[in-house]
Amino acid sequence: MKLEQKGLSVLEKMLRTLEEGFANLPEIPGEIDFEAITPILMETAERLQDNYPYFHPLYAGQMIKPPHPVARLAYMLALYINPNNHALDGGRASSHMEKEAVAQIARMFGWETHLGHLTSGGTMANMEALWVSGSLNPGKLIVASEQAHYTHGRISRVLRLPFQAVGTDNQARMDLSQLEELLKTGEVGTVVATIGTTASGSVDPLPEILSLKEKYGFRLHADAAYGGYFTLVGNLREDTAAAYQRLDEVDSIAIDPHKHGLQPYGCGCILFRDPGVGRLYKHDSPYTYFSSKELHLGEISLECSRAGAAAVALWATQRLLPIVRGGEFAHMLEKCREAAIRLHEKLSSDPRFVVGFPPELDIVLWAPRKGTISEISRASSRFFEAAADKNLHLALAILPAKFFEKSLKDVERDAQEVTCLRSCLMKPEHLDWIEQIYGIMDEVMKSEKV
Ligand SMILES: Cc1ncc(COP(=O)(O)O)c(C=O)c1O
Repeated sequence: MKLEQKGLSVLEKMLRTLEEGFANLPEIPGEIDFEAITPILMETAERLQDNYPYFHPLYAGQMIKPPHPVARLAYMLALYINPNNHALDGGRASSHMEKEAVAQIARMFGWETHLGHLTSGGTMANMEALWVSGSLNPGKLIVASEQAHYTHGRISRVLRLPFQAVGTDNQARMDLSQLEELLKTGEVGTVVATIGTTASGSVDPLPEILSLKEKYGFRLHADAAYGGYFTLVGNLREDTAAAYQRLDEVDSIAIDPHKHGLQPYGCGCILFRDPGVGRLYKHDSPYTYFSSKELHLGEISLECSRAGAAAVALWATQRLLPIVRGGEFAHMLEKCREAAIRLHEKLSSDPRFVVGFPPELDIVLWAPRKGTISEISRASSRFFEAAADKNLHLALAILPAKFFEKSLKDVERDAQEVTCLRSCLMKPEHLDWIEQIYGIMDEVMKSEKV
């Protein structure tokens, strides 16, 4: 069985228990017309066949990870209530679950106090961080690296804040001397440190950025949408671990439970170290906030309606798999990282490939070796297609050729950028599939297609 189905019988039991909570209500007359619904749902199932097999270990491409069954089932159960975590009026239990789950995430970063909530994703989480920064430092520059997610430049435009990208080193990490040059102008209000870049999982040098913060003074936001949970793992490189150790000193953190936190899409999270920034969110709502004097999450969130089901799923997942060092969840991430190290090593010792720098998290970059960078780019695209024909699904990325510096001996540099292959090894099962994945790569190289 490829798509888990046993959970459906658990869902039935959960539903009966949920319904008991409403036993004192009169029955609602009326039947659902399953004759009308069923053919449309069957058509829906057929339409959804047109997808890459994201749930399978042979999907080793984009940042897509299947939700844990506990998250999926908790989410499905919550849908029968469909709570709205804007206010306690709309989702009492799920709002409490959100506060508990978010506090656990804050604690994972070493924050005993915080202000935070779930968002629809990393974009909104980062948007709230930049909005708070911009409110505290109006008109000042937002700075992120060229490898930061594109969202920062675009959000800055939405917020009408000036934005400047700074270059990176050969491992896609923010160039500190370029950053310092900008800081010297006195115009910088916020620096965004990416803790796990989208393309390569690179981690900006946080200890050094914190030293610059002390010298020049600016707000520091960590975009840990992808890499945040790696703070729990024990098999990071020393330089990477040094960044995670100082993560509690930043002003705000964005992290996406819907990336590495085993959640369905629609689950990002923003955390602020100083709960006092809550004052910036202050607004009156004539419609809500009547049911309790307790904090309603809508009072500290830019989004109004938010899926209570997302909070329920996250809460249940963290009950099963506490987000602590040495726990099973941490161990699962360690396996992803180990898978990436192994794949990188295998590719590095195979002269048929050029490889990117050693992975900091669980993303691997490589390409078929050819005589020029342009030929490598064309071969990567052919490799991508040929691997997909053999059921191995990878991703392509266009990146600075300098990320392959150590591997480009005897390659003519006829372009600055190279199209390469990229694998986000986000499933712990990837570790057991590395031989098989590599075997398919070997077959692809032996075929005449690349
Ligand atoms: C580092 C980083 N920040 C932000 C985002 C945007 O997050 P979302 O797609 O959840 O809006 C991503 C998405 O890949 C990311 O990798």
